[in-house]
Amino acid sequence: MSVRRSVIAGVGSYLPERIVTNDDLAKFVDTSDEWIVERSGIRQRHMVADGQFTSDLAIAAAKAALENANMDAQEIDLIVMATTTPDNTFPATATIVQDALGIHHGAAFDLQAVCSGFVFSLSTADNFLKAGQFKNALVIGAETFSRLLDWEDRTTCVLFGDGAGAVVLKSEEGGDGTVADRGILTAHLHSDGRYKDKLYVDGGPSTTQTVGHVRMVGRDVFRHAVVNIADVINEALLATDLTIEDIDWFVPHQANKRILDSTAKRIGLPPEKVVMTVAEHGNTSAASVPLALSVAVADGRIKRGDLVLLEAMGGGFTWGSALVRW
Ligand code: ACO
Repeated sequence: MSVRRSVIAGVGSYLPERIVTNDDLAKFVDTSDEWIVERSGIRQRHMVADGQFTSDLAIAAAKAALENANMDAQEIDLIVMATTTPDNTFPATATIVQDALGIHHGAAFDLQAVCSGFVFSLSTADNFLKAGQFKNALVIGAETFSRLLDWEDRTTCVLFGDGAGAVVLKSEEGGDGTVADRGILTAHLHSDGRYKDKLYVDGGPSTTQTVGHVRMVGRDVFRHAVVNIADVINEALLATDLTIEDIDWFVPHQANKRILDSTAKRIGLPPEKVVMTVAEHGNTSAASVPLALSVAVADGRIKRGDLVLLEAMGGGFTWGSALVRW
């Protein structure tokens, strides 16, 4: 039996030039490098320059992913872009990226699942490809989260950063339907709106006509994150009849080192299999998973044939996992 799978053919990323260290923040926020490192593992984050937009980061990441896949932009017929910080309320930032890449066919749209956005977008594109509706997709996570932060709220503003990552997903026939196939083997998505007030933005076009600022009940987010992430990882393993020992690389949403350490411990994954970029990037929301993927592919850790476990959790709450044979 020949099975159609969505294979990750290339990955790319982009980080704005400006690096902001914890000490830089401590100059205007009542915080310290010691507190931030101890509570979150974050040492620095990148931040956009004036006049630099989410689409600029996304375009650079998309071009890098296409180059890595050795593909031409014209081969792309679907762009799914995860972002909470679109250039404007509309049109979808994906259409700005599409136009900049010179693509005037197929479909391009944004998807909003906050920090889970990349995993939700990957699964969405995978389903379109498996259904045969599109052939090759760009899945992008791009954020300028610095523009949503309240710089007087030290409980949130020290945690986030800007950046973008992208993958090229290619529909390929010929898999035999086993976990040995290349491509996305399984994906699992969840939302539970009962927790919408635990992590949110206090503005929007319909409520305040402003973009608002990030608000968070940090302890509740932490508690739910560890449990939900472990559960959705087990769901992926159960669905594929794989065990945690089969995983070569764990590429989680980079929210917070303590969340990642607790999750890895809970699921029984050794720390050396965890790709961790939170120290250098901070929490880049939907961009964090493809940014981390990009780092681990570029430095030679993730290689063809490896089994890669992705997960994310974010506002809503939303959370999800995906298992990919690289
Ligand atoms: N610098 C110095 N002190 C601070 C700072 C700061 N930046 N922020 C808070 N504090 C103070 C608080 O005011 C408080 O002081 P008090 O005891 O005098 O009242 C003290 O530090 C402890 O505050 P808590 O909020 O209890 O600190 P906690 O140990 O819970 O750590 C943190 C806070 C890091 C936010 C933690 O709750 C956490 O990691 N939560 C997960 C949130 C997260 O990662 N969110 C990312 C988005 S969601 C996602 O992507 C999954």
